[in-house]
Amino acid sequence: MDALVNTWYAAGWADEIDDRSLVGRTILDRHVLLFRQSDGTAKAIGNRCPHRFAPLHLGKHLGDAVQCGYHGLEFDGSGRCSLNPHGGAEGRSVAKVPAYPLVERYGALWIWLGEETPDESLIPTSMAFMTEPGRAEFHGCIVVEANYQLLNDNLMDLSHGMYLHAGSLSTIEMLKNYHPKVEVVDETVTSRRRSLDIPPPALWHPGLPDGTKTVDFFSHLQWDAPSHVVLEVGCLPLGMPHGSPGQIAAISAHLFTPVSDTRTLYFFSFSRDFSIESQDVDAHVRQTTRHAFIEEDKPMIEAQQEMMGTPDLMSLDPLLLKTDAAAVRVRRLLAKKIADERSRGVDAAAGTHREAARP
Ligand code: FES
Ligand SMILES: [Fe+2]
Repeated sequence: MDALVNTWYAAGWADEIDDRSLVGRTILDRHVLLFRQSDGTAKAIGNRCPHRFAPLHLGKHLGDAVQCGYHGLEFDGSGRCSLNPHGGAEGRSVAKVPAYPLVERYGALWIWLGEETPDESLIPTSMAFMTEPGRAEFHGCIVVEANYQLLNDNLMDLSHGMYLHAGSLSTIEMLKNYHPKVEVVDETVTSRRRSLDIPPPALWHPGLPDGTKTVDFFSHLQWDAPSHVVLEVGCLPLGMPHGSPGQIAAISAHLFTPVSDTRTLYFFSFSRDFSIESQDVDAHVRQTTRHAFIEEDKPMIEAQQEMMGTPDLMSLDPLLLKTDAAAVRVRRLLAKKIADERSRGVDAAAGTHREAARP
C-alpha cells in the first residue's frame, strides 16, 4: 500500500490495554497483538500464530506470555515461542511471531512496523497536550472505510466544516473571510486562519459569556508525518490576539492509522480549556463532536471513497481549489517521504508477504 513504513503510527490508547487485555489490530495489513506484560510494559507482537494461523487475541493472557487459544503454543513479548506443549518445533526458525517496537507516550501507544531503527524523536511532540493537566479530555477510535490520506485531506481543509458541520462546529458566515495561511517548515505543514466578527458556532456557546453575539474565530492546524494532525480551534473577543484573556479553545488530535488501502483507524483526542468541571458542557461537547465525526465526516468520506473506486485520489486528476493548499502540501510531502523510503529498498508489503510466506 502507499504508506510510510518506517514511522510511528498510533496503535491504540494506553488505557485500552489493561493487564488482562489481548487486543488484535491490523495496521498496514499486518496483524498485530497488543498486550501488557506483568510489569505493565505494553508489547506489540504478530497476532497470527505460526502453527495454524489462529489469531492470538482469541487466546489467554498468561502474565508475560500469550497462549494461543487453538493448540496452546505460548509466545512472549519478544515474539519467541516460549512454550510448545506438543514438542517437535525445537530450533525451528518459524516458531515465533514478529515483535514490533511499541512506545507508550502522551496517553497513546505508538508502533513502529518498519525494519529501520526506530527513532523515538519522531513521535510528534505536538501530541503532548493529550495528557497535560488543566484540560477536560476524552478520546476514542472509529473505523473509517476509506484511505487514510482522505482523512489527512479532511482535516487539512476545514472549509468542509462550513457545509458538513454547519451550525455545530462551523457556520457559513466563516466563509466571508476564510483565507487560511499555509506554511511548510521542515516536514511540518501548518494552516492558520481567523474568521473575524462572526456568530460563534453552537459548540462554543456554553463557554462564552451570556449575550455574546460575535467573536473572532480561529483555527490552527498542524500536520506531521505520516498522518498526525493537531487542531486548535477557538473563539476570541473581537480584535484580541491569540492567547488573550477571554479566549476559549479546544485542542484535538487526529491520528490516522492505515489498516489497509481503504480502511483507517481514526484515533481522536478532544480537549477543552473552558468549563472543564461542567458535566453538562462535557455531555454537550461529546455529543456535538461525536455527531460531527461519526454522523457527518465518516459517512461523507466513506461515500467519497466508494465514488473514487481507488485509494489513489491523485490518479483521478481531481479539481484543486484554493482551500486545498494545505492538503496538497501534505500529500506532496508524504509522497516524497514514501518515494525516499522506496529508494532505500523499503517495500510496504514486505512484512505482510513475509508473514504469508511462512510454512
Ligand atoms: S493455531 Fe496456534 S497453536 Fe495451533
Ligand atoms: Fe469534519
